[in-house]
Amino acid sequence: MTRPPADHGPQPELTDGVIVLRPWREEDIEPARLGHDEEIAYWFGFDAVVPSYEQHKKAVESWQAGYRDRSLVGFVIEHDGRPVGSVDVRDKGEQVGELSWTLYAGHRGHGYATRAVRMLVDYAIDELGMTRVEARVDPENHRSLRVATRAGLRREGIVRGRGDRKGATGHVLLARLADDPPITDPTSFRALLNSFLPRKRAISQMLIRDPEDRVLLCRLTYKKDWDLPGGVVEVHESPQLAVSREIEEELALDIKAGSLLLTDWLPTWGGWDDAICLVFDGGVHEPSLLDQVVAQPREIVSAHFCTLDEVREHCADFTARRIESALAAVTGGGPTYTESGR
Ligand SMILES: CC(C)(COP(=O)(O)OP(=O)(O)OC[C@H]1O[C@@H](n2cnc3c(N)ncnc32)[C@H](O)[C@@H]1OP(=O)(O)O)[C@@H](O)C(=O)NCCC(=O)NCCS
Repeated sequence: MTRPPADHGPQPELTDGVIVLRPWREEDIEPARLGHDEEIAYWFGFDAVVPSYEQHKKAVESWQAGYRDRSLVGFVIEHDGRPVGSVDVRDKGEQVGELSWTLYAGHRGHGYATRAVRMLVDYAIDELGMTRVEARVDPENHRSLRVATRAGLRREGIVRGRGDRKGATGHVLLARLADDPPITDPTSFRALLNSFLPRKRAISQMLIRDPEDRVLLCRLTYKKDWDLPGGVVEVHESPQLAVSREIEEELALDIKAGSLLLTDWLPTWGGWDDAICLVFDGGVHEPSLLDQVVAQPREIVSAHFCTLDEVREHCADFTARRIESALAAVTGGGPTYTESGR
């Protein structure tokens, strides 16, 4: 654990010209405890909304002791000479700090928390020598998530089974590294947005027909319903190339994907998040195409050209609808959009 040497000096005051981060004083205890409200109690899982003077005094003393052994550095956030909240960074060892922040009732909505967390992150990295500062935020605590993001912490994932709030099921883990570019740098800002904007799974499938308009379906090892050939698009992969890759891997067929026939949105289902399924035109092939098929045994039992009646018999209803919509797009001339095949 890299902690500053014991002679690091007294806890400093930090300011950005609008707020001041300074050490706790005895006279802060009363206004700070009276600033506690339902919002603080809810997100931290406190039983009492307003702590007693003694309870808050104990907390302040533990933060002061934390500075002495550098296990925690806690600051009062001061604005216009009044305490408006608090922030702290806890040393987790291995040059990692964990942040926490609160604004007292009546002081939210002015940007003080964002300013305080930004200053604390810089202090933790520049003065305490931390290489990573992280925060764990309840996924439903949207105000706090915005504070973390505005302070330049990138979203890394969900820590399941953890939480302060009663009934919480996990934490969003966010962090900033010492060598992340400054938040004013456009690449850093894009990386930040990229870390938290929603993502959707993409699936690419191919509609391969024979001259009688039968459709190539795969019988699969992992589910009872048959499906079009294709699969999940990898990160950074083109959906059009993905489907040809999948068909090569699953069936050993070399078919270039043609134009897009259908975009089908698949709603949340059976433990899966929602997804976008893109169906590309694989063209018309003689039934002898099946002679070239080498099914990859892990996923594919067999491949068959099927009539629409056989499609309805072997596929899930939403897959059958998707195939019918894709077939209609072939003759209807142009890509179609459906939701669950409709
Ligand atoms: C989390 C918490 C600190 C956020 O408070 P906040 O006031 O929303 O955060 P900030 O001080 O950074 O203020 C940002 C808000 O002020 C607004 N604002 C108004 N004037 C502003 C100004 N001059 N500059 C910047 N922001 C300003 C911003 O638009 C923003 O509102 P928005 O998110 O609705 O767009 C507060 O809700 C809280 O104390 N919650 C309880 C404790 C808690 O949850 N702690 C976190 C545990 S991990």
